[in-house]
Amino acid sequence: MVARLEESGELRPGPVREALLALPRQVLMPQAYVRRSAPDETPPRWDLLDWTRPADQEELLERLHSGDSVAIQHDGEPTLGRTAGSRRGGAMTAMSSTMGMTADLLQLLDLRSGQHVLDVGTGAGVTAAVACFVCGDTGVVTLDIDPHVTAAARERLGALGYQPTAVTGDGTAGWPDAGPYDRVFVSFAVRRVPTALVEQLAPGGRALMTLGTSSPSWPGLAVIDKRPDGTVEAELRAVEFGHRAGAGFDRLFLSASFRDTITTVDGPTQRTRLAPPADTARGMWLALDALYPGLVRHFGAEDLAIGAPECGSWMRVRAAGPRRWDVTTCGPRDIWAEIQDAAARWRAAGEPAAYRLHLDTDDVQQATSPNGALTWHLPHTGASR
Ligand SMILES: C[S@@+](CC[C@H](N)C(=O)[O-])C[C@H]1O[C@@H](n2cnc3c(N)ncnc32)[C@H](O)[C@@H]1O
Repeated sequence: MVARLEESGELRPGPVREALLALPRQVLMPQAYVRRSAPDETPPRWDLLDWTRPADQEELLERLHSGDSVAIQHDGEPTLGRTAGSRRGGAMTAMSSTMGMTADLLQLLDLRSGQHVLDVGTGAGVTAAVACFVCGDTGVVTLDIDPHVTAAARERLGALGYQPTAVTGDGTAGWPDAGPYDRVFVSFAVRRVPTALVEQLAPGGRALMTLGTSSPSWPGLAVIDKRPDGTVEAELRAVEFGHRAGAGFDRLFLSASFRDTITTVDGPTQRTRLAPPADTARGMWLALDALYPGLVRHFGAEDLAIGAPECGSWMRVRAAGPRRWDVTTCGPRDIWAEIQDAAARWRAAGEPAAYRLHLDTDDVQQATSPNGALTWHLPHTGASR
């Protein structure tokens, strides 16, 4: 896995690489789920693989070193002392995140020996283990909302020889008792920057977290630096991948039948010479998500296909020849017009890939392009838009 991450450029020489090389992943994840049903099949079916069963070892190792996310908890169950075997229905409630994204973010966090680290969203404990390896376990606090996840991580990190402070609580409140922290790493998406986490950041400290709106399609990464004088400088970067939503944050998804509609059904179609924005225009897509909330991209489609599940509107853009596209739109929202408007505003803003984040007061958090031309307020916690 480490070699693959190096080849893809996601992992560079340095302490995070050393930590990942030294980490026996099966100690942190001696049991993991693999999905046995097709993506849209209901009820879903999983098998819980177990390292102590020789028949499971090869598949478990392959799963743990695939770099993909690893499902570790089903329906909030206790994660110590489980019986291996099949599960039907319900949902996966804790995961270890994809390693490419995790490695990328941990390197951006710039961990150093002796730092105090708050790892928010313990999960399988991979990020906590890396923090312990690099910084030393006495300065690491790992915090999860689920007591079973905390208990398992405490035991398994202990088996690696690490004794960080492993605690249970809502991560958006942080863990002030052991602060301030030089580094704060959040492993789940939040709607806005939790003020408590900024308050618990030490001067010279850095916090990273995925910021999302209602759609999982176009995530933003908040990079928050507290200067030595205590003032805060924060940036919202448009990124390809982000963490999944945290507790109490419902996201929109396209159902299988809606995805089928968007890709196959005919509707009013216009021919245009206006090219759809490129996938790599991430700053535009992030702005679209904020300016016109409720849109979800069907990333599996060949064409650009986007739906608005709350009202059933959808749009599909198909190449119709050199510099010509057929745009099919359906429903009360004109998604193509929304994209054109967001793209025009993004171009006028200088096509930024990152926005300044203003976190001045509790009530107002705002993203603004460097030239000030494009700006939006981050949604309030609990609001669906
Ligand atoms: C993607 S997993 C974390 C991955 C983990 N850092 C690792 O290295 O394996 C996200 C975790 O965040 C936890 N979580 C979700 N919402 C939370 C919240 N509001 N406060 C604290 N933990 C939360 C979940 O229980 C889950 O274990």
